[in-house]
Amino acid sequence: MRSSCGRSDRIESAFGDNLKVTIFGGSHEPEIGCVIEGLPAGAIDGIDMEELQAFMDRRAPGRNEFSTPRKENDIPVLKSKDPLTFIIENKNARSSDYKKLGNIPRPGHADFTAHIKYGDDINMAGGGPFSGRMTAPLCIAGGIAKQILKAKGVTVCARIRSVHGINDTPINYAGVTANEIEAVSAKGFPVMDDNAGEKMKDEIRAAKARGDSVGGKVEVVAVGCPAGLGSPMYGGAESVMSRVFFGIPAVKAVEFGAGCDVSEMLGSENNDPFTAAGGEIKTATNNAGGILGGITDGMPIIAKLAFKPTPSISIEQDSVDMETMKPAKLVIQGRHDPCVVLRAVPVAEAAMALAILDMMMEGK
Ligand SMILES: Cc1cc2nc3c(=O)[nH]c(=O)nc-3n(C[C@H](O)[C@H](O)[C@H](O)COP(=O)(O)O)c2cc1C
Repeated sequence: MRSSCGRSDRIESAFGDNLKVTIFGGSHEPEIGCVIEGLPAGAIDGIDMEELQAFMDRRAPGRNEFSTPRKENDIPVLKSKDPLTFIIENKNARSSDYKKLGNIPRPGHADFTAHIKYGDDINMAGGGPFSGRMTAPLCIAGGIAKQILKAKGVTVCARIRSVHGINDTPINYAGVTANEIEAVSAKGFPVMDDNAGEKMKDEIRAAKARGDSVGGKVEVVAVGCPAGLGSPMYGGAESVMSRVFFGIPAVKAVEFGAGCDVSEMLGSENNDPFTAAGGEIKTATNNAGGILGGITDGMPIIAKLAFKPTPSISIEQDSVDMETMKPAKLVIQGRHDPCVVLRAVPVAEAAMALAILDMMMEGK
């Protein structure tokens, strides 16, 4: 796994052991993009570009009242097959919104830490390389990985699990099917219980009307993943996936299977009993989320990602002018998502698909 961010000829950040994905650019740079190395030769020729565009459209901004009004078509342009490189042109950046911030860092955003580390060396307009916009190239690579996995019988799909404490219906972690998760992730507002979905929408609308924001959780599931992926400790499936999940801006916690709840269970409640049905060893429950000892056990892989509320809110906040070192009041006027969770659903799918494909390519 590698990750770097610095101004050489361009800012970039990379991950992957067997499949290397490098994301480059910034929110208000002319372009953002990705380089994907390690795919089998010719793999890109088997990719359905219309399906990839439909996947990108699920994340794209400006599509509904729950997303930033910034209008970007997010069309992947193939720049090179070797190394496999895609770019997306940034067409609707409005840097004037960010000039108004001056030397005053937004609470909850990366302005302060980016200033400490890079000074004026990077363009932080629109959040620069820290922006949610950097998940668009992640979705190019992840959309390709999803199609490759699908051809191998692995389905990766996600849904909104909660928004500001309003929960969708739990799924059966042991029995969840590919059809079930595909149906929910294909919805415009991907929840199983549409009544809960309406309450979540009202919660986002109410926060937005107050100039505030809300967070929530995304649940991402892989069905059909073979047993035996991953290795002990740092090569474990949870470690490999978490690295990619935590690269998604605004993710503050990741849980696998029963997650944090395991700390309140008895061993006899948490352990998933083994069963031998149809010549296959499975488990009757799936509190482990498909992973034991860092290695996949053939059950559905289940992860939950907790997203914080969008940091850029228009309510007045306390900050500091970093030049004068005096207290400063901040009112943010740019275009922002009142809740990032809806747009993060395909991003979580992209991240899990890439991590699984990376592990599947071990030794290939
Ligand atoms: C899809 C997506 C969209 C986002 N949109 C915004 C946004 O409109 N405004 C904002 O301030 N942060 C947004 N974020 C979150 C910030 O990029 C993130 O909180 C910030 O870079 C600080 O990083 P951290 O929260 O991981 O510490 C978004 C994140 C994602 C995944």
